[in-house]
Amino acid sequence: MIGGKKVCAVIPAAGGGERMGAAGSKVLMPLGGVPILIRTLRVFEQAPLVDDIVLALRPQDQALVEELIAGAGLTKVRKIVPGGKERQDSVRLALAAASPRGAEIILVHDAARPFVDRATIDRVLEAAFASGAAVAAVRPKDTLKFEEVPGGTLQTPDRRKCWLAQTPQAFRTEILLDAMERAVSTGFEGTDDVSLVERLGGNVTIVEGSYRNIKITTPEDLEI
Ligand code: CTP
Ligand code: MG
Repeated sequence: MIGGKKVCAVIPAAGGGERMGAAGSKVLMPLGGVPILIRTLRVFEQAPLVDDIVLALRPQDQALVEELIAGAGLTKVRKIVPGGKERQDSVRLALAAASPRGAEIILVHDAARPFVDRATIDRVLEAAFASGAAVAAVRPKDTLKFEEVPGGTLQTPDRRKCWLAQTPQAFRTEILLDAMERAVSTGFEGTDDVSLVERLGGNVTIVEGSYRNIKITTPEDLEI
């Protein structure tokens, strides 16, 4: 709960993990003996502001994940839904299961980001409660190059004006539901959740994320 409003964490975990090139599900790969997904769920289990968790999974992972959740003593996972083709589809399907449960604030977080910390979750929730939508982000450390077409002229955007978007991203539920509905009806597909609100001209607050909150994407991320 934040300001008396119920908070549901939606965790998309139904990706194919193509860039990791693993045989099974990327989010079930062990990190120091504990599956990535379980590490992520533990953070939300221990976050006092988060009431419920809804998980999107590949159907073939559901039985094993239910066992892992029980074994880890996790109590906040209310519902598991089959994920969709793209990340946005998985979020939409989980959201459909989450909102009828009466959550007034939805926080979306990639299962593949197990190093998220509670302070970041709290900051994003507070900002979404105040402004409607919020995203955790960090400043790029490298110089950015923009190449409109391969081999074309380069541009160097001012990195002090750029952000690298992470999750968590949080919303007042009706704002995300409305943005999702409009994305579906216009065929828009975003690689993150706040972009659905941005394109409607909606207000999105950026809050400081963490450089530790990496998304485990390729094999070298596992080594790091
Ligand atoms: N995800 C999902 N449903 C999809 C695609 C992705 O729930 N159809 C989830 C992933 O499981 C992950 C998060 O969205 O927790 C971020 O996606 P990403 O890191 O891109 O993971 P994958 O899509 O699995 O990896 P890849 O893009 O390399 O295939
Ligand atoms: Mg992906």
